[in-house]
Amino acid sequence: MTLTSPELSELVARDAARHRVLTGDRPTGPLHLGHYFGTLQNRVRLQRAGVEVFVIIPDYQVLTDRDVAERLEEHVLGLVADYLAVGIDPATATVFTHSAVPALNQLFLPFLSLVSVPELSRNPTVKDEIRHSRQDAVSGLMFTYPVHQAADILFCKADLVPVGRDQVPHLEVTRTVARRFNERYGEVFPVPECLLSDAPLLLGTDGQKMSKSRGNAIALSASADDIARLVKRAKTDADRHIAYAPETRPEVSNLVLLAALAQGRTPQEVAAEIGDRGAAELKRVVTESVDAFLRPIRERRAEFAADPGQLRAVLAAGNARANEIADATLAEVRTAMAMSY
Ligand code: TRP
Repeated sequence: MTLTSPELSELVARDAARHRVLTGDRPTGPLHLGHYFGTLQNRVRLQRAGVEVFVIIPDYQVLTDRDVAERLEEHVLGLVADYLAVGIDPATATVFTHSAVPALNQLFLPFLSLVSVPELSRNPTVKDEIRHSRQDAVSGLMFTYPVHQAADILFCKADLVPVGRDQVPHLEVTRTVARRFNERYGEVFPVPECLLSDAPLLLGTDGQKMSKSRGNAIALSASADDIARLVKRAKTDADRHIAYAPETRPEVSNLVLLAALAQGRTPQEVAAEIGDRGAAELKRVVTESVDAFLRPIRERRAEFAADPGQLRAVLAAGNARANEIADATLAEVRTAMAMSY
């Protein structure tokens, strides 16, 4: 089951303190505007509405990607800087890593017993990642990480999980694990809901999915020059009249959307304002509005990044809190399983 933003606001408005949100981002590189408008913005909104937010940095998950694993610490601290820069507040939110929370990882074992190999092999997101992994053999971790993800979510009994569409099959695994655990051992876990963003999908500057590895992503830390260079390279079309028509003119429309999100206006307004002044004017508007939007985020991020001691302290506090909760949940699980000797 999935919820989108209007339903969500209603749910939260009724009682923010009753909900617990958990989500996270793989530590594979700096976060970009796709992350911001797809999920980070929503997390900060929920946090400000008084919901307790947990942000996992799943460092064990990325062991399946060897290039990433070699620069893990840099990526992890970079994510913490990104979070703080966009407004995740460590006074109320918990930012933590897999590797620092032993009891969370221990839940992985009983959870593995609750799913079958055929179920695991049907997961479309995992299949897709295997296809793109350029490795001759699939590791056990690649195959089972969605079950590990169930431990990420259930250890703190999160009931709301904001994610992108690619994560929906993983959320189904979590829901299955929670249901089966409760049926077999008694009610311990809530069955969490998946929260999908209703923001239109922001593509990269080449019209493909925005991702660091494609070189089409505008990082939250991008300098004015980086932004100008990426926007300059973006594809447009020959029609001088600028309009928002994602179906028929995807590249131009994506640039319009980018400017609109950065300005906090609708794409139709932005397109109408540019009118017949063509792609060069569109690119000038995009470059300027994205730079204006990112300037304060970039400045805050630079300050945080200059103080790795503070980044480590934020993680240490988050890890301590995650451990406390994970220890309590594991104790409950062992009791439910009649394994507390
Ligand atoms: N699997 C997610 C991804 O690839 C990252 C992730 C790990 C996650 N654990 C999570 C997301 C728990 C939400 C909740 O992006």
